[in-house]
Amino acid sequence: EEPANTLVIHADQGRTTINRNIYGHFSEHLGRCIYEGFYVGEDGAIPNTRGVRNDVVEALKKSKIPVLRWPGGCFADEYHWMDGIGPKEKRPTMINTHWGGVTENNHFGTHEFLDLCEQLRCEPYICGNVGSGTVREMQQWVEYITSDNISPMTDLRKANGREKPWKLTYFGVGNENWGCGGSMTPEFYADQYRRYATYVRDFGESHIFKIACGADGPNYRWTEVLMQKAARNMAGLSLHYYCGTGIKSRSATQFAEDDWFALMKKGLRIEEIIGRHEAIMDRFDPSKKVAMIVDEWGTWHDVEPGTNRGFLYQQNTLRDALVAGLSLNIFNHHADRIRMANIAQTVNVLQAMILTDKARMLLTPTYHVFEMYAVHQDATLLPTDLACKDYTFGDEKVPGLSVSASKDRAGKIHVSLCNLNPTATAEVSCKLEGSDAKPASGRILTAPAINAFNTFDAPESVKPAEFRDYAPAEGGFKVTLPGKSVVVLTLE
Ligand code: AHR
Repeated sequence: EEPANTLVIHADQGRTTINRNIYGHFSEHLGRCIYEGFYVGEDGAIPNTRGVRNDVVEALKKSKIPVLRWPGGCFADEYHWMDGIGPKEKRPTMINTHWGGVTENNHFGTHEFLDLCEQLRCEPYICGNVGSGTVREMQQWVEYITSDNISPMTDLRKANGREKPWKLTYFGVGNENWGCGGSMTPEFYADQYRRYATYVRDFGESHIFKIACGADGPNYRWTEVLMQKAARNMAGLSLHYYCGTGIKSRSATQFAEDDWFALMKKGLRIEEIIGRHEAIMDRFDPSKKVAMIVDEWGTWHDVEPGTNRGFLYQQNTLRDALVAGLSLNIFNHHADRIRMANIAQTVNVLQAMILTDKARMLLTPTYHVFEMYAVHQDATLLPTDLACKDYTFGDEKVPGLSVSASKDRAGKIHVSLCNLNPTATAEVSCKLEGSDAKPASGRILTAPAINAFNTFDAPESVKPAEFRDYAPAEGGFKVTLPGKSVVVLTLE
């Protein structure tokens, strides 16, 4: 007989803080992410503040976006920041060779990005150019942004309208330098990393958290070499992991349960990959000084029919929401090593939070998961023991549930639960150890169809609703999760 679903929450054993930056985002000069997605220019008809659209800023503030990575991605290692400052009409153009071969007019540059982060009230995370840029260029970029001294770079910043330096903490030294960022070996990149990072200086009060380019999914050798050669020179090492269904790309919206199951399996695989990279990092850095930064993750489907293949514009269904929910639960569990993650990419690209169609905007099911899970930001992770029924499809199986729990600063406990099985309701017996809190409220994200999604004409087909299917029980509580649902419970 199959075991019942049981969950034990150790409310008195929390030790690790869930860094709010685990709920971070990534935005690249790619397709309609920056232009139209964020930046519409000051003179257009779409309501904006200094060119940045107000509707998108409001939505992301509501979901408590903590940090935003920019300008890429592959774009970062071809980007020359000096082309993106000064009067817009004088900024040179470039060809965005990675993404559709379109002309980039550089109207969105350093000032616009840092203004966007100020409007979002989030931390900026800038990725510098190692692949085709110079050490000097990277050194000057950091000086331009953060120095309060008198120098040609700070004079230039002031001449461009910004008197005071900005606060910049997170700086990436290259992106995917094993691939689009220069096709380097790990040995060569580790040396380059040490060289470039030497000149990423702290000016005045600033202290830069330097992030080295990390592995593509299961490339464990990359982590081994980087940790061996450069661990002392870095504050963080990145990791990228994308999941799609199979070798061929598949539709984001037209799928049956085989593709649903395949995506759950791919999504869950990140736990094994994180664990194996962590084991390598633990050997070189047992006190966990170097953070793991999952600065690109999410689902990657075929582009929407009729759209530019280089723009990576995909729809977003309840299935993507489940992948977001289970991935964030996994990151929470590894919060002692993972101190930032950035879903790819915030608007109109890959697993987006927001889609726009000129002046119109919609929130995707993935957005709602981020908004519901925001309660975990900066809360204390509570260890959990979960024993659950499998979700079986054909002759394969995965665990049917994904869970994480935390206690916030006000003492409230939040439990996020995903039922990955699209057809079976899950009854879960929850034991709460070290606390007599009771479930006080809940929210649920689900829909009748596995491929439910929001459109510009029906933007609220998938949205959170109040959830009440819980009841106190001996030593804890019981909860009933419908198939294909994400639930967040609050215990007080
Ligand atoms: O997010 C899209 C692309 O995926 C990024 O530019 C690159 O870093 C990764 O391969």
